[in-house]
Amino acid sequence: MPFTIVSADPAYAVEIARLSRRSVEELCAADHAGAGPGLDAWLNALATDRIERWITRPGVFLMAVDETTQVLGAVAATTMGEIALLHVLPEARFQGVSKALLRQLGRALDDLGASHLLVRSPETARRFFEARGFEPAGPAEEREGLRLHPLRKAL
Ligand SMILES: CC(C)(COP(=O)(O)OP(=O)(O)OC[C@H]1O[C@@H](n2cnc3c(N)ncnc32)[C@H](O)[C@@H]1OP(=O)(O)O)[C@@H](O)C(=O)NCCC(=O)NCCS
Repeated sequence: MPFTIVSADPAYAVEIARLSRRSVEELCAADHAGAGPGLDAWLNALATDRIERWITRPGVFLMAVDETTQVLGAVAATTMGEIALLHVLPEARFQGVSKALLRQLGRALDDLGASHLLVRSPETARRFFEARGFEPAGPAEEREGLRLHPLRKAL
């Protein structure tokens, strides 16, 4: 599935929020199996108005779109390099979307003067980040029933 990476536009906030929530519910099921109300907190953080604010605030927010401008994936990070989300449409999984988003994010943050990328990764995505050169940056953290692994990569 060919795709292009572009800066996210607030007009896509509804679609990105829907994609992110599907990514959490369908791809991270093993991560939130024991989270209980923690899952609601996770999903609430991905509400459309919050995504819209993320797109318009300082930092980098990129999306991968196909030829029909359907959004296949999205990544957001602060100017300091802290990754807030990296989500892919379940149908577009394992097609290189997240790898391409992460590469482009690294370039954009490098241009902004960031020295590293930092992510708090659920178990599902941990191997993905480690295979991209991320290394443990501290002990795992428990947040609202979720186990998150702080991982860091120098730019
Ligand atoms: C893990 C995840 C982020 C990867 O996104 P993706 O767009 O599917 O990944 P890509 O296609 O870009 O990268 C593929 C990697 O997945 C793995 N992969 C590829 N095909 C696979 C398959 N059929 N089965 C299992 N793993 C596969 C490989 O490790 C590959 O890396 P490699 O090329 O070095 O072998 C995504 O699938 C996911 O689960 N997201 C859930 C949300 C999340 O946890 N986000 C991160 C924290 S915010």
